Amino acid sequence: WVLMATGRSPTNIAVIKYWGKRDEALILPVNDSISVTLDPDHLSATTTVAVSPSFPSDRMWLNGKEISLSGGRFQSCLREIRKRAQDVEDEKKGIRIKKEDWGKLHVHIASYNNFPTAAGLASSAAGLACFVFTLGKLMNVKEDHGELSSIARQGSGSACRSIYGGFVKWCMGKNNDGSDSIAVQLADEAHWNDLVIIIAVVSSKQKETSSTSGMRDSVETSPLLQYRAQTVVPERVLKMEEAIKSRNFESFARLTCADSNQFHAVCLDTSPPIFYMNDTSHRIISLVEKWNQSEGTPRVAYTFDAGPNAVLIAPNRKNATILLQKLLYYFPPQDNDLSSYMVGDKSIL
Ligand code: DP6
Repeated sequence: WVLMATGRSPTNIAVIKYWGKRDEALILPVNDSISVTLDPDHLSATTTVAVSPSFPSDRMWLNGKEISLSGGRFQSCLREIRKRAQDVEDEKKGIRIKKEDWGKLHVHIASYNNFPTAAGLASSAAGLACFVFTLGKLMNVKEDHGELSSIARQGSGSACRSIYGGFVKWCMGKNNDGSDSIAVQLADEAHWNDLVIIIAVVSSKQKETSSTSGMRDSVETSPLLQYRAQTVVPERVLKMEEAIKSRNFESFARLTCADSNQFHAVCLDTSPPIFYMNDTSHRIISLVEKWNQSEGTPRVAYTFDAGPNAVLIAPNRKNATILLQKLLYYFPPQDNDLSSYMVGDKSIL
């Protein structure tokens, strides 16, 4: 027999960035972070997990290609979920798995992303969150979302925020064992329905410096990182929570842009410096800044993760449409590497 479960998780985009770990093994961050979870129709991972007594080992395929599970991030999540597995019964198929038997059974996992992997579009976040969620479903794990987020965190930090929709905060926590480093939902999918998120794919190439190694280098060498984590982010997180709660786009946009810029400043402050943005990214920032300044108030916010692609957040469809027109005018696809636009008009579920 074979028993299967399938799940889908959207990716999330940080508006207050996570950059730097205080514990590499448990993935504990140096500061809180806040994100927006996207609509799963646009950027998501879909994972199917199967268990059968005839599987001789655990195996995993990512976008159709087999990847090694040994010692990796997926392995630690698998171990944590297995520990919490419960009895499972499928009457129709006549299958009964007792919780103590899960340790003897192996799983096959197939995961797909509907967007470019490792191009700085937080694919690991959706992938790991989906992995944890779907395994939990198959193994009848009873833990709540907070506990699941802490397991996903041990796969990839930003993954803990993809366990929820809407606006999510990853609380850094204080405990050395990571038990209080979990994600919480600040507002659900319906709270700020007017927002439109546009991702301008500047390049779908694999990034040169992974987030994991980039942030390790920043922790070791950037004095700005310490200042940011201890002095800037705590205050910014409070202001961002307030902006989200009151749907204050002006404050939300200013904080989002400032935090993206400071994250990239930390990257430049790292030795050797890390360049995630390219000329096209910088030109997009200038375009948005000029527009915002000419209106006297932000019309759109931008944020960039560990890659050159721009995530642009508009307060409504009207501004999103004007933004798209501007992008198409200033970046005609044939004469630069801004190859496509992904538009999610219901970007927040
Ligand atoms: C720039 O979560 O990919 O997207 O924990 O090492 O897997 P690991 O890193 P990852 O880092 C994401 C960094 C970021 C900012 C963010 O999402 O908060």
